[in-house]
Amino acid sequence: NTNILQDSHGRDHAYLRISLIERCNLRCTYCMPEEGVTLSPKSDLMTYEEIYQIAKTFVDNGVTKIRLTGGEPLIRKDIPVILEKLATLPVELSITSNAVIIDKFIPVLKKYGVNKINVSLDSLDESKFKHITRRHEFKRVYDNILLLVKEGFTVKINAVLMKDFNENEIIDFINFTKNLPVSVRFIEFMPFDGNKWDMSKMVSYAEVMKLVHEAFEENQVERLQDAPNDTSKNYKINGYQGSFAIISSVSNPFCDSCNRLRLTANGQLKNCLFSSGESDLLTSLREGKSIEPIIQKAVLSKFKVRGGMDTLKKLQEPELHTKNRSMTAIGG
Ligand code: GTP
Ligand code: 5AD
Ligand code: SF4
Repeated sequence: NTNILQDSHGRDHAYLRISLIERCNLRCTYCMPEEGVTLSPKSDLMTYEEIYQIAKTFVDNGVTKIRLTGGEPLIRKDIPVILEKLATLPVELSITSNAVIIDKFIPVLKKYGVNKINVSLDSLDESKFKHITRRHEFKRVYDNILLLVKEGFTVKINAVLMKDFNENEIIDFINFTKNLPVSVRFIEFMPFDGNKWDMSKMVSYAEVMKLVHEAFEENQVERLQDAPNDTSKNYKINGYQGSFAIISSVSNPFCDSCNRLRLTANGQLKNCLFSSGESDLLTSLREGKSIEPIIQKAVLSKFKVRGGMDTLKKLQEPELHTKNRSMTAIGG
């Protein structure tokens, strides 16, 4: 009985991220180009049955946590059935959403035990929000975050930081946690196909902490204990209800404790966010073959750090970014 979810660096993969759809109702600049991306033909997308079957194989092999992503997962028409099916598995179910339409899904999320919700929100300023998302939905997202908290969900806010754009909002975001029990996570801007990444546009972990220490007294800033396999370094301001964190994939990768695998909406397994290679699970499933050998092979070929882009020099080679997908087709 071999553990097919252990890689050659000894990492166990108990966390599966499933992208349900490539489309999104926003157009964030760091995620996709203005014109959108070429979408997979509908017949290539996993049906809810196929999602369930693949997820079950992972759970049978040790996955204990599944996060649904997109695109925007909630615009998938059969999301209630997907949740219903996945809720029958012994697994923690969570979702990452832009929250534009999440108010309509609160009953169904509660019904199927989805308690933890991560929401993308990159600015607290309406016009900046519109600039980054190319859509006019700030108020709905903001109100929905408050609603989710009120309804008892555990909410994390994901804010991708960009130089000269929202770095001046870091302290505003932290102060937003004063009376609201959410975790705001500042994310270092990462390179993907079509997102015009440039290292100079990134705001680093060190830069965030410098601003934090300028704004708060040393004894106000508390370093929290991170959960095992956390993507974030967690902090809080003493007395604030919420907390804040930094996801430092670029300046300070956390690959040593990586426990994550990704399944794309068209049924391809990615062993890393930055992997260019993919393993086709869906075709084998449709042919009635066992997908376990493919999973095992994919996991064993996982690179130690950032899909092989282990140095900052490699991370800055543009031809390596175009080998990967755009973020909207990976799911984060
Ligand atoms: P929790 O389950 O609440 O810990 O969330 P999460 O951080 O796993 O997921 P989320 O979808 O909220 O992702 C937040 C940010 O972390 C996104 O920018 C992701 O791309 C990034 N992220 C998540 N997992 C990984 C990972 O394995 N590697 C890297 N480099 N970044 C990741
Ligand atoms: N760099 C860093 N984070 C990104 N996200 C999307 N694109 C990028 C990028 N280029 C984050 C968003 C979303 C999460 C799933 O991924 O904040 O909430
Ligand atoms: Fe895991 Fe790849 Fe992310 Fe590193 S970059 S934490 S190996 S998914």
